[in-house]
Amino acid sequence: MEPAIPDLRSAPRAEGYARLLDLQSLLLDGSHDRIAAMATTSALLHHAFGHLWTGFYRVVEPGALLRVGPYQGSLGCLDIRFGRGVCGTAAAERRTMVVADVHAFPGHITCDPRSRSEIVVPVFDADGCLIAVLDIDSAVPAGFGDEDRAGLEALVAWFARTPYVPDPVVKALRPVLADEP
Ligand code: SME
Repeated sequence: MEPAIPDLRSAPRAEGYARLLDLQSLLLDGSHDRIAAMATTSALLHHAFGHLWTGFYRVVEPGALLRVGPYQGSLGCLDIRFGRGVCGTAAAERRTMVVADVHAFPGHITCDPRSRSEIVVPVFDADGCLIAVLDIDSAVPAGFGDEDRAGLEALVAWFARTPYVPDPVVKALRPVLADEP
């Protein structure tokens, strides 16, 4: 059975992220699957902190287009162009965006009207290529700060230190990698 996700809503944020990093390592130990990692990381963050929306937008056209990936929360829009909204801006500028008031952000894309603040963190692979952004929306105004930036950047570092092995390759290598005959 999988471990329960701790309720970290009233824990100091830095301590909360340290616990989630440990859990992420435990859960993803031995995995090279980006979708599994995105799904697991979204679930941990969303339920531990009680966010409104937590998930990934993947780069499907480098420099041009993001498409929704694994997430938790109400329905997210499917596609976001680079340069549009908070996600598209973070992708185009390859940097974390912390938005204290989404209504004051020009071009903010409203998926859930309850959203008040947002953080978007770029996700890089081992070669420094942008592969996705992690987007978190909160119903709390100014819900994110430096501890969130540091904690989330540490969590998405999984993608930069984990070699990408596409599924067909995993299948092809299975007999070679297996210990047992
Ligand atoms: N808030 C995002 C759009 C995606 S949803 O909120 C899930 C933005 O403005 O980039």
